[in-house]
Amino acid sequence: MAAKFTNTVKGNVHTVKTIAITGASRGIGASAAIALASPARRLVLMARSEDKLRQTQAQVERRGGQAIVLPVDLSSRKGAELCSKLLLERTDGQLDVLILNAGISNHSDFLNSNLDAIEYELRLNYLSPLVILRQCLPHMVTQPDGGHVVCVGSLASLMPFPGEVSYAASKAALLSLLRSLRVELRHQPVTLTTVLPGYTATEMTSKHRSLLPAMSSERVGISIVKAVEERPHLVIPGISNRLAARLFRTFPGISDRLLARFASLLVPSVKQP
Ligand SMILES: NC(=O)c1ccc[n+]([C@@H]2O[C@H](COP(=O)([O-])OP(=O)(O)OC[C@H]3O[C@@H](n4cnc5c(N)ncnc54)[C@H](OP(=O)(O)O)[C@@H]3O)[C@@H](O)[C@H]2O)c1
Repeated sequence: MAAKFTNTVKGNVHTVKTIAITGASRGIGASAAIALASPARRLVLMARSEDKLRQTQAQVERRGGQAIVLPVDLSSRKGAELCSKLLLERTDGQLDVLILNAGISNHSDFLNSNLDAIEYELRLNYLSPLVILRQCLPHMVTQPDGGHVVCVGSLASLMPFPGEVSYAASKAALLSLLRSLRVELRHQPVTLTTVLPGYTATEMTSKHRSLLPAMSSERVGISIVKAVEERPHLVIPGISNRLAARLFRTFPGISDRLLARFASLLVPSVKQP
């Protein structure tokens, strides 16, 4: 059962920040939660696997932080609505930072892809974050320092990603959502940050092979902490990922052709047994 926090914010001084993070049971989300652990932060850890969330919680507490776990399944609109409702209840509406990180990727050639799997991926990677934002943002804009949303997208949203085209499109939709929202909400005290990690060693990529080195989830977790502290609009962890992003945005034609030619070297892929 998920609990409520034991401490409360005293008086008018909002000293302890409440940070909720989805996909905190493993990988990038767990690493970010552990790196965020501090007596000045209370964390709400969300994902489906309660046992793994408890492991993250134990690591957060070992580092002097405070965390509660909230088991949720974000693969449906109902699940995302329930998540938002529980989140606002358990934090008494005092949600300072919302890190939307849960996601999956389908690896399949598009011509052989399964439409049910694509729909599931789109719901988890794009529609659920949208539903949670719709429910939580009206509360977050009332926070003393203004709310902060951090969405974990992917470098794949800026470049072609053969073999995971629906994944790349779901992350591009998320990037676009935040970009437009940032302008629409420009008079509201809310910051919207997109983090675009490149190839990272987690369960999601455990079957991938690539000549390019994978970044550790801990390294991406540290970038997320920096994003929470500095509130930039866009974070791309790692200099080589930033260079790739610049190349694909500045010279899309040339870089697409280069990638098409050297796809087997440049794009992480799953080797068939
Ligand atoms: N790894 C990479 O190379 C890479 C690169 C760029 C971006 N990213 C993005 O980074 C984020 C984290 O990925 P990761 O690499 O850390 O993957 P991961 O290790 O597979 O972790 C995915 C997280 O999402 C949660 N999740 C999956 N399905 C869920 C559902 N239906 N409801 C609620 N939570 C669910 C998982 O927890 P449960 O299974 O317990 O629910 C887990 O905590 C994703 O958005 C991913 O797209 C990853």
